[in-house]
Amino acid sequence: MEALRAVIDPEIGQDIVSLGMVDRVDVDGSRVRVRVKLTVSGCPLQTTIRQDVERKLAALGAEAVDVELSTMTEAERDALALRLRGKDPAQVSLNANRLPGDAHTVFLAVASGKGGVGKSTVTVNLAVAFARRGLAVGIVDADIYGFSVPDMMGIEQRPTVIGDVILPVPRFGVKVMSMGFFVSDNAPVIWRGPMLGKMLDTFLKEVSWGPLDVLLFDLPPGTGDIALDIHSKIPKVKEIIVTTPHPTASFVAARAGAMALRTGHELLGVVENMSYVRCPNGDRVHLFGQGGGRKLADVLGTELLAEIPIGLPEAADPDDPDFAPSVYDARHPIGEVYDALAEKVWAKIGSPSPRR
Ligand SMILES: Nc1ncnc2c1ncn2[C@@H]1O[C@H](COP(=O)(O)OP(=O)(O)OP(=O)(O)O)[C@@H](O)[C@H]1O
Ligand SMILES: [Mg+2]
Repeated sequence: MEALRAVIDPEIGQDIVSLGMVDRVDVDGSRVRVRVKLTVSGCPLQTTIRQDVERKLAALGAEAVDVELSTMTEAERDALALRLRGKDPAQVSLNANRLPGDAHTVFLAVASGKGGVGKSTVTVNLAVAFARRGLAVGIVDADIYGFSVPDMMGIEQRPTVIGDVILPVPRFGVKVMSMGFFVSDNAPVIWRGPMLGKMLDTFLKEVSWGPLDVLLFDLPPGTGDIALDIHSKIPKVKEIIVTTPHPTASFVAARAGAMALRTGHELLGVVENMSYVRCPNGDRVHLFGQGGGRKLADVLGTELLAEIPIGLPEAADPDDPDFAPSVYDARHPIGEVYDALAEKVWAKIGSPSPRR
């Protein structure tokens, strides 16, 4: 049982013994039989849990490990949901106006004036780069109508729901919540303002985020309802503005920045995306003009944090479980740019002791 405490349920982030998932252990010489109760049947991460159990017991000298998987009863799941709510400070009633994480959690919104400049790409890759640094990271895809984070990260899985607790979906070390998880067949979301706000509340308060160093928000374009909602619901949110180098893009982006400043939020800086293409001979071609990011940073009295070139992640096989069309890995030149961005941002906002 002690060894099994090192097996962490990847979705909940706690060990399977404390979660009450280990039903019984029978030891017969060097042969061990373990019965594990999964939270839901067909739990997408069951292979990970099974392999982890086998590995931990083999390390103790077990020569044969038999892992039998079953599913919790409704009553057991309700009890677990209650326990999760009790343990997780995020899990309190909506009226209590509590946010995920704790006093150390940094909230970081990625905004822009214009659409299509790369907010979602920057959010996803900054989050993955934070996770590579060992930080506990989450993403709220706050673009309720135009969600794109699940596709960009290649997430096929749907969130597990235990009782009335929703678990974010883990991907590349990042916990993700998106409207896309609750829409079938890419159907359009046709809600009006107040319902969008409620969805955001649900994402913040009914999702079991667990401890977080950073929670990123991928905002829809412009200075509309959701952006305003984020500003009012999360008073301490810090903001990054994304723009392209083109003067019109940075002009429009200035409005998003001005909104952050007017609502009293800390502007961390500007990220210029699609800055240039690097040619095979090393030359940089500035397809969309030059200087927009720098100018915007000056206008807003903030810093130009990064210039991200145009380029695609390594082509991967869509059947590969790690396939993610918009995630650059650490060895990709653009992945390195994101690592540098993460380091810079963390130096500005980070608490000295990350949790992982
Ligand atoms: N540096 C880049 N190099 C190549 N393609 C990029 C780059 N950044 C973004 N893209 C591509 O540009 C498109 C728009 O990017 P993305 O969806 O991130 O923008 P957005 O600002 O979130 O858009 P929206 O306003 O619709 O939410 C996507 O197809 C994305 O893959
Ligand atoms: Mg987007």
